Amino acid sequence: MSLLIKNGEIVTASERYIADIYCEKETITRIDKNILPPAGAEVIDAGGKYVFPGFIDPHVHIYMPFMGSSTKDTHETASQAALIGGTTTFIEMICAARTDKPLDAFELWMDKAAGKSACDFSFHMGVSRFDPAAERDFREIVKRGVSSFKVFLAYKGAFGVTDEELFKTLSLARELGVITTAHCENADLIQALQARLLAEGKTGPEYHYWSRPPVVEAEGVHHLMTFAEMTGAPVYVVHVSCQEALKEVLRGSARGVRVWAETLIQYLLCDKTDAEKPDFEGAKFVMSPPLREKRNQEVLWNGLRKGFISTLASDHAPFDFKTQKEMGRDDFTKIPNGIPSLEDRVNLYYTYGVRRNRIDLHEFVHTASTAAAKIFGLFPRKGAIQPGADADLVVYDPACRGKISAACQRMNLDHSAFEGVKIEGRPHVVTVRGKVAARDGKFVGDPARGQFLRRERGNY
Ligand code: URP
Ligand code: ZN
Ligand code: ZN
Repeated sequence: MSLLIKNGEIVTASERYIADIYCEKETITRIDKNILPPAGAEVIDAGGKYVFPGFIDPHVHIYMPFMGSSTKDTHETASQAALIGGTTTFIEMICAARTDKPLDAFELWMDKAAGKSACDFSFHMGVSRFDPAAERDFREIVKRGVSSFKVFLAYKGAFGVTDEELFKTLSLARELGVITTAHCENADLIQALQARLLAEGKTGPEYHYWSRPPVVEAEGVHHLMTFAEMTGAPVYVVHVSCQEALKEVLRGSARGVRVWAETLIQYLLCDKTDAEKPDFEGAKFVMSPPLREKRNQEVLWNGLRKGFISTLASDHAPFDFKTQKEMGRDDFTKIPNGIPSLEDRVNLYYTYGVRRNRIDLHEFVHTASTAAAKIFGLFPRKGAIQPGADADLVVYDPACRGKISAACQRMNLDHSAFEGVKIEGRPHVVTVRGKVAARDGKFVGDPARGQFLRRERGNY
C-alpha cells in the first residue's frame, strides 16, 4: 500500500514549505501541492504539523556488556522506543572486549539486531585491540558496510586502546576511507584520580565528576587531534561535554584536522548538581564524561547553532537504578555509566532548543538527523525529504504537551533521569520506509521491519 502525507509543513535542514508527500513501496516518489490520493493509499493528515526527515541517533549502546553488568534494553525495546520518539535510524557501537575476535563481535551484534529491530540500524566497529589478525577482520567488516570505527581513550583494561593501537587504527581508517569516532578522556589520569578519591573515603556518585574533570576530557581530545594530524585520518569526537574539550576540537580543526564533534541532550539539560542529589539519587546521573558545570550548556548550544558541533546524540546506555546503579553504592567507580535518552532525545531537543529559541528548526533537523546522515554515509537515503529518499518521516505535533515519566516509557528501564520534565511537542506519526511504525506515543508497526544499513564513505 502507498502512503500520502497531506498538508504538512515540511522542514529539512535547509527548506520549509507546505506540500504533500507521496511514498510508494519504501521511498518518497513525489512532493507536490494537492496530490490526490490514489486508490488504496493510506492518507495521513499532517495539517498544522511539521514533517521532518526521520531522526538519526549516531551514538547508542543497545547491547553492551560493561562495568560488570549489561545494558537493559533489547533491540526490540530500544528500537520501538526510538521510533516512538521520532528516531528512525540508530548507529550502535560494537563494544568488543579486548579478548574478542572483531569479526565474531560484529556477527554477535548483528545477530542481536537482525530481525529484532523495528527501525533501521548500523554499527560503528569498536577497536579495542589492534594486531594483524584484528586488522584482517576490520578490513572485512568495512567491506560488509560498516564505514566507521570506534575507539575509547578511556576505560583502561576494558575497551581502551594504547597509543600504538590508536596510531595503527587511524592509519588503517585513513587507508580505507572510514571515519573513527572516539571517546576522549585520559585513562591514566582517571585511574589515578579515582584511586586518590577512594583512598580519601570519597565514594559517593558526586565524586565521579572529580575523577574526570574537564581537563581530563580536554587532554583526551588534544591527544586524538595529535594522532589525527599525524595520520591525516578523519575523526569524530563523541559526547563533547564542556568548553575545554570543545576548544581542543576547534584548535585541531584550525590546524587542519578533519574533525567533527557530537554533544548529547544530557549535557544540554542536566548538570553536575544532578549527580550530587542525596540518597544515591545522583547515581542516575552518572555518565562519562560527567555532567558539567551549568555554564557549559550555553557553550554547547552555541556550538550547535554555529556548526562547531555537528550532531546531537543520546549515547543511550540503559542500566536499571535498583539492581545495576546500586552496584556502586559504596564506590562510585562501580556505578555503570549511562543516562538513557533514546526515546526522549528528539522531544527534549525540540522543547528546550527550538521552543526556547536556542536553535531554529533547520538547525534542529540538521544536528539531529541530516548531519549524521552526511558524516556517516547515509545521505540522501536518510536525513532528507526528497524523491528517492527512504520514506522515513516524522509528522510532528508542536501542540502536544506532556511530561516524561518512566511509568509510560518503552525503554526497558526502571527510572528516567528526566522524570517529570515537560515536553512541548511529540511525534504524531512516524514511518519507516513508507510504513507507519508509531502513532501518538505508541508503537504500532512491524517489530522486525528494521534493516541493517550498509554504509559507504561519508562526506569528509
Ligand atoms: O557514560 C556513558 N557515556 N556510557 C556509555 C559508554 C560510553 O562511554 O559511551
Ligand atoms: Zn563514551
Ligand atoms: Zn557511548
